[in-house]
Amino acid sequence: RSTVLPGLLILAGVLAGGPPAPAQPLPTPPPVSAGAARTLNDPIFPGLGQLGLDVRHYDVALTVAEPGTPELSGAVTLTLVATRPLAEVRLDFFGPTVTAVRWNGQAAPFRMEPDTQKLVVTPPAPLLPGQEARLTVEYQGTPGVILDPDFSTPLRLGWQAVPAGEGGAGANFTLSEPQGTHTFLPTNDHPSDKATFTTRVTVPPGFTAAASGLEGAVVEGSGTRTFVFTQAEPIPTYALAVHVNRFERVTAPPVPVGANGAPVVRRDYFPVGTPDSTRSAYALTDEMLRVLSGWFGPYPFGAYGVAVVTPPLPALETATLSTMPVRSSNERVAVHELAHQWFGDAVTPATWADVWLNEGFATYAELLWTEAQGGDGQAVAAHWYAILAQGGTRSLVATQAGQLFDRSAYQRGALALHALRAAVGDAAFRAFLHAYTARFSGKALTTADLLAFAHAQVGGAGEAALRTWVESPGLPPLPVPSH
Ligand code: ARG
Ligand code: ZN
Repeated sequence: RSTVLPGLLILAGVLAGGPPAPAQPLPTPPPVSAGAARTLNDPIFPGLGQLGLDVRHYDVALTVAEPGTPELSGAVTLTLVATRPLAEVRLDFFGPTVTAVRWNGQAAPFRMEPDTQKLVVTPPAPLLPGQEARLTVEYQGTPGVILDPDFSTPLRLGWQAVPAGEGGAGANFTLSEPQGTHTFLPTNDHPSDKATFTTRVTVPPGFTAAASGLEGAVVEGSGTRTFVFTQAEPIPTYALAVHVNRFERVTAPPVPVGANGAPVVRRDYFPVGTPDSTRSAYALTDEMLRVLSGWFGPYPFGAYGVAVVTPPLPALETATLSTMPVRSSNERVAVHELAHQWFGDAVTPATWADVWLNEGFATYAELLWTEAQGGDGQAVAAHWYAILAQGGTRSLVATQAGQLFDRSAYQRGALALHALRAAVGDAAFRAFLHAYTARFSGKALTTADLLAFAHAQVGGAGEAALRTWVESPGLPPLPVPSH
């Protein structure tokens, strides 16, 4: 971005017909270290991530010796490449104490910067663009405290500990959106840098671990069990699920809704003793997979299911395994989190300002599901409209952290899609959704990318309907599709 600007200014000067600039020596490239401290400059969380760093894969090993306590030990090996020269690698980490760092297997110097929540590692030589390296970090202790940006909920993000007692045996799990993953894992903690994961979780006998991806063989140790999971498609760091509990793992036959009808593995994790009234919220998951893949295109991952947790927290669309609090275990939230597997986990916002791309689409799935069940979709839209008319609204690109999960992100975001549907009709709307997930799965996009894509797919009228809902500061009229 900043590299484009001087060129444009020079060009502007030339076009303005000013006197030719005196001959300048060619600018010398900045020293390698100059860019090292630059973050990804997210509009909402400017400190996250490192410019020029691309983490391709995280190989994670976590040991939870006493489930229900925050204590954790970990070893993670990141496969990373540089997209610009990096004299230092600056990972987001605000977690347990780092005990060792290795660069391609050799001990490497490192330091913690608690004020920036960075773990800074110096490789033996700068990592040059295109070069790949393996960075290993070992750590042990207690995760840091990062509070939810929405201060109406006193929520600690990242690694959660549910103490034993009150019927439970002690549990841990991740609840990281937006920036809690770096309380338990050193990461480039920004949605624009998606990666694949291998996750190994070692727990005491009697406990079960679950994580995003497909489960491999369980390894029995001396007094421990290690569960292994492979998340083969790239996901944003906040979408990584890790759970430890006394779980019942309930499987069902695979559902053929993947690419070209590929089978999607089905498994749900319920804490032992979960009542039927909670489990019943997930009785229609297979049907939801069929209905949503009909609208959105093939399901993007190899497995789907839920892990139920007991604390009264927000639900979260953790990849392949949504994290579902007991109190949110109902059909509406179940279909919402499933929809996020396409919108959020597979197709990801490039910045936190664009998070309505997640919440608007997932909320719209609630309307589509209502219709598929024979209900009145327009009544759902009218209900959302009334909420916005009463509570106020804003244009959709967020400008502050407190807006990330507000009514505009959810209900107005959903009505923007309803407006697109009303403008182009059901068949073109469905084709648009299929094309959108096909184009952006595994990638990250901005709101501007969405509008440009809509223009190309459905033309100017559809794009204009969408754009009005994206940009206008007030509340546009309620869209009414004719089916
Ligand atoms: N993406 C979640 C959902 O809509 C909500 C996450 C809320 N996160 C938060 N930090 N308040 O399902
Ligand atoms: Zn959501």
